[in-house]
Amino acid sequence: MSTINHLFENNRQWAAQIKAEQPDFFKQLSEQQSPEYLWIGCSDSRVPANELLGMAPGEVFVHRNIANQVIHTDLNCLSVMHFAVEVLKVKHIIVCGHYGCGGINAALDGKQHGLIDHWLRHIKDVYRFNHEKLDDITDPQERSNLLCELNVIEQVANVCNSSMIQTAWKKGQALSVHGLVYKLHDGILKDLQVSVSGIN
Ligand code: CO
Repeated sequence: MSTINHLFENNRQWAAQIKAEQPDFFKQLSEQQSPEYLWIGCSDSRVPANELLGMAPGEVFVHRNIANQVIHTDLNCLSVMHFAVEVLKVKHIIVCGHYGCGGINAALDGKQHGLIDHWLRHIKDVYRFNHEKLDDITDPQERSNLLCELNVIEQVANVCNSSMIQTAWKKGQALSVHGLVYKLHDGILKDLQVSVSGIN
């Protein structure tokens, strides 16, 4: 049987290193968390929220799913948003996609993938809403890249239109929603310039 013993060893080394640098780190963290950011990103193993933001444990509240979607009937994502906004009072919600996203590519390839097709249906809807911009692009990678961006923009709108975010803004809570895309090939985040900070 293969084991995961090496992971426990990694974990001990990681905890020891942090403790050496900041002896009270875990004690303080165990007493409370007060992150200012909610990250809604893709499950892709190459897009780790904390690491690419240069943030330590405790600094970012994270929800990840395939192709970073915010679906109005997804209780998981809505519960995370609810806790982040109403209890943690995060100041920023970041929706982050990434170029080369397998979920986006699977939604584009015209094949059947089984159960996940239900989840990808929402991305196909994003394509349909924007087909005039996408249909003319002949390069598959370019088309995929644009759909990655349009998907993020759509999910930012879904966050903003959710009743809990609308309520927070009506109460005057300081909260901004941002749309970013991560470039796998150089590790750099691109701001899609779609930030919203209240009801316009
Ligand atoms: Co992805």
